[in-house]
Order: sequence, then C-alpha cells, then structure tokens
Amino acid sequence: MHIKIVFIGAGRMATAIVQGLIEKEHYRPEEIACTCGDDPTGPALAERTGIHYHANIIQALGEAEAVVLACKPQQFAAIDQDLADATGGKLILSILAGTPLERLSAKFSHARNIVRTMPNTPGQIGAGVTAFTPLRQLSAKDCQIVESTLSSLGNFHEVEEEDLDAVTALSGSGPAYVFEFAAALRDAGVDAGLPPELAASLSIDTLLGAAMLLAESDESPEELRDAVTSPGGTTAAALQVLKDAEYRKLMQQAVAAAKARSIELAQQ
Ligand SMILES: NC(=O)c1ccc[n+]([C@@H]2O[C@H](COP(=O)([O-])OP(=O)(O)OC[C@H]3O[C@@H](n4cnc5c(N)ncnc54)[C@H](OP(=O)(O)O)[C@@H]3O)[C@@H](O)[C@H]2O)c1
Repeated sequence: MHIKIVFIGAGRMATAIVQGLIEKEHYRPEEIACTCGDDPTGPALAERTGIHYHANIIQALGEAEAVVLACKPQQFAAIDQDLADATGGKLILSILAGTPLERLSAKFSHARNIVRTMPNTPGQIGAGVTAFTPLRQLSAKDCQIVESTLSSLGNFHEVEEEDLDAVTALSGSGPAYVFEFAAALRDAGVDAGLPPELAASLSIDTLLGAAMLLAESDESPEELRDAVTSPGGTTAAALQVLKDAEYRKLMQQAVAAAKARSIELAQQ
C-alpha cells in the first residue's frame, strides 16, 4: 500500500476533490486515503470511489506527500493533535473557510508547508473557483500537488492572505447572491404572469446561458449588457429601474458586509 494523499474529512468538498483527482488521473484510488468524524462519510466515500478509509488515519500517513484538511472549520479544534503531529514534513492543504494560516500552522507545526484555500460551492461539481495562499513559497513539486488538487474543484488563483476576506465576500459567498438573484428573477416572472415552473426554468437557463456567454466572450459584462439594450427598448426600461434603485451600490454594500463579517469571524 502506497498512500500519496490523505483527506481529513470526507464530506461534499472532499468528495468533489477525490472524484476530480481520480477522473483526471492525478492519483489512482489506491493512492488516496480518508478519515472522517462520527458519521459514516469516510466509509461511504471509500465505497463510492475505491479509495482507502481509516478510522485512525495515522497508520496511513506513512509516505503520503500531502494532507487535505476538509472538515468544517468548527470541527478543526477537534482534530486529534497526535494526527496533526504525525503530518510532520508533509504539505497541508486546508479548504477550511476562514481559518487563518497562523491557526493552521499552530496546529500543524511540523508541516513542510501549509496552503490555505477559499473554494466555493460550485466546486462540488468541478465548476468552482478557489483562491489560495501558501505559508511559504511553494516548491515546484508542491505547486504541482496544489494545482492538481484545486483543479478538481475548478479554476484557482494564488492571492495574498490579506485578500482572502474580500475573496470570501466575492466568490465564496457569491454563489448565494446568484441563487438569490435566480429566485428573485423567478418570482418576478411569476408576478409578470408566468406559471411558476416555467418561470423557474427560464430563470435558470437565462443565468446559465448568460454566464456561459460571458465566460466565452472577450467582451466585458457592460459590453454584453449594452449589446442587448436597444435605446428605448424593453431591456433599457428594466435597467433604468435597477439604476434608479442603485443596484450597484447595493451589491457593493453586500460584498463589503460579507468582507467585514469574514474579518470578524477570523478573529474569534
Ligand atoms: N461546501 C462548500 O461548497 C464549501 C465552499 C467553500 C468552503 N468550504 C469549506 O470546505 C470544508 C468542508 O465543507 P463540506 O461542505 O465538505 O463539509 P461536510 O460535508 O460537512 O464534511 C465535513 C467532513 O469532515 C469530517 N470530520 C468532522 N470532524 C472531524 C474530525 N475531528 N476529524 C476528521 N474528520 C472530521 C466529517 O465527518 P463525519 O460527517 O463523518 O463526522 C465530514 O466527512 C469546510 O471547511 C468549508 O468551510 C465548503
């Protein structure tokens, strides 16, 4: 048995990463091991993907090069200190939202390097975006491990740790803003006289299509917006309402509030 990468936590995000690593052939299932807390998420992940599960993962750490920390932030303190100490000399990759490098390095004090990441929920289907900050500059080998692990969740960017609160406010919480927008668009469609099911379907497909067009196009969101807005037309009438209600200012306030809360939570 030669385990190369170990997961502490086997929930939704760990599952997405494990599946991506196997699909993209970065690791074979037998090179991956996981552990979990009190619920049977670890055995379930092992059964679904063919990776190893160990209630006591210390025995599987051996020659592993990396450890992915994928429990909930509030479960961090409960991670066995013997397990944390046994990760000495390894790369630790944490996906715990809002847990600073300082706290991670206090627990994993013998790690060869630690990477703090901030993924988002679409990572669960490989369509996420993750920002990451290493404690020390990454070696070429560790850079490769980080990139192959994070690519399982979607796109990724290296940032300074001080930017992670703003990243949390934009892309971390961002999917919720989009879900809220989708719900508001659906309800507005119903108010405008459409059957609920049709309004829901139109709302989802509009968001999906617009996002795909935006991602594939070289044009900015403003240019694409202007391209569907003829003077005096229907879109112009709607956009004027958003402008009058200071939609952009509202979005700015929402992101600023999320950032302030992220800073507050990191201090607790
Ligand atoms: N979900 C997202 O889209 C998302 C987005 C951004 C960031 N994140 C971050 O990703 C992390 C994981 O989120 P998730 O949604 O995957 O959580 P989740 O589905 O609740 O999974 C948490 C996992 O950690 C395990 N665990 C709990 N206590 C443990 C312990 N003491 N030792 C070892 N394993 C333990 C749990 O095991 P049992 O349940 O079996 O006890 C479970 O397998 C969180 O830190 C979150 O901040 C998630």
